[in-house]
Amino acid sequence: MTYRIAVLPGDGIGPEVIREAVRVVEAVGAATGIAFDFTEAPIGGAAVEATGDPLPPETEQACLAAGAILLGAVGGPRWDREPAARRPETGLLRLRKAVGAYANLRPVRVHPAMAGRGPLRPEVVGTGIDVLIVRELTGGLYYGERGLQQEPFGERAYDTMVYTTPEIERIVRMAFQLARGRRRRVVSVDKSNVLETSRLWRRVTEAVAEEFGDVELEHMLVDNAAMQLVRSPGRFDVLVTENTFGDILSDLAAALCGSLGLLPSASLGLPGRPPLFEPVHGSAPDIAGRGIANPLAAIASAALMLRYAFGLEREARAVEDAIDEVLAYGPWTPDIAPPGAPVAGTEEVGRAVALKVRERLAPAPLEPVDAPLQVAFWDPVEPVDPAPLGEGSPGGAAGTTGETPPAAVPGASLSAAAAPAASAPGVAGDNLAVSWIAGDHGFRPVLPDEPVPAAPGVAPDAPPPAGATYSGHRSSRRTRHPVGRRAESKARTRAAAGGRPGTGKGA
Ligand code: IPM
Ligand code: MG
Repeated sequence: MTYRIAVLPGDGIGPEVIREAVRVVEAVGAATGIAFDFTEAPIGGAAVEATGDPLPPETEQACLAAGAILLGAVGGPRWDREPAARRPETGLLRLRKAVGAYANLRPVRVHPAMAGRGPLRPEVVGTGIDVLIVRELTGGLYYGERGLQQEPFGERAYDTMVYTTPEIERIVRMAFQLARGRRRRVVSVDKSNVLETSRLWRRVTEAVAEEFGDVELEHMLVDNAAMQLVRSPGRFDVLVTENTFGDILSDLAAALCGSLGLLPSASLGLPGRPPLFEPVHGSAPDIAGRGIANPLAAIASAALMLRYAFGLEREARAVEDAIDEVLAYGPWTPDIAPPGAPVAGTEEVGRAVALKVRERLAPAPLEPVDAPLQVAFWDPVEPVDPAPLGEGSPGGAAGTTGETPPAAVPGASLSAAAAPAASAPGVAGDNLAVSWIAGDHGFRPVLPDEPVPAAPGVAPDAPPPAGATYSGHRSSRRTRHPVGRRAESKARTRAAAGGRPGTGKGA
């Protein structure tokens, strides 16, 4: 069985981040044998340039023939003055309608490692933010009647917000169903003190709620919802709302995560039509082409695709866990790098996630080689965990389930010279995986007797702290170990370093 994916990179940073998302899906395929087939097609400004149409018929056909659509972003200042029919955004709106993607799911989660890095004070972030925004996507202002007229006094423009009972019912019902798999609380956001569509929205929502006696419903006005998301985000579980409110609130919620570059989305719709997966961020023309865009939202969107379009839960989880690991330990693009940490580019982050996905899904021990390699890493305080997958099952072998990847092979190490030989054939990113391990992605090999290089902010002549290097077959740039893993990882570090505790040097 082959899973067919229509890949629509679009404009601005779209192509850069989608390249990394595809890389990660390819890594899933390489590790599991699952076959993915990618068909790339133009959309948005790129399609306007190529064909004059922001959604060419070939693109629409490629999408309808696929099992899922992976989209980057559309739009840019270059097309700001184009008439509506030639605007990049029009291509996206037509695509959403063509595939009937009425339910836009935007999960907003603050990873613990990001808690201090977003705009909110850590005490507001509290025990964590975990909101699922369910945005109606094919109705309301985006699709209502609109117009621009000449009047004696100047111009007159209008957009209309229209909703019907069935449109509201289906999206609200989906929100309640999703809440059942979560904390069973739905906040429905409207502007019923002013808008007629909102009053209908509220009545229909109350009727649907009757079917879900086990789920708590709260109505909230949209202005208040904006404030509550910032003041006490922890009170939200599922937030359901109409198209325009959802657009605005999801950008706000994305910022709570620390960066717009982290929020994925899934747009699900009519049965038999392919769902659409896209990062919430836009085309970011100001940073496009510089290789610094954060690919994690696009990669997380690919994870949602594996889960929702193809039912590949284990693989989706492996990608999400790999993202979490990269968030915690790097490499980081500039938007999420902790102060003083080295920053990485889009491709480096994508390759890091792809490598970690492969480790999770098809953990294979590397060939032991003679010469040990020492690896310098950024944080001088915490020891490196030689089994990046944490709670590891020592001795795991290739072909294990992937849920509990194996720890480092005892005594194994990889010399830089031997690195290419350890590359397994057949996978995009394989050589990278090895070179990542071997040191040309932010690490550099350290000769056995060389002092540890100073970390940022540390005096160059400061003595190397214990545990600052290790000799082992894997490396990862890390800053912190989650509580509870520290002792275990220290033990592993010592083991990997030849049982010389405290020296920080390998055998
Ligand atoms: C989003 C975007 C789009 C929207 C634009 C690009 C049309 O902002 O997906 O949130 O408004 O839906
Ligand atoms: Mg938006």
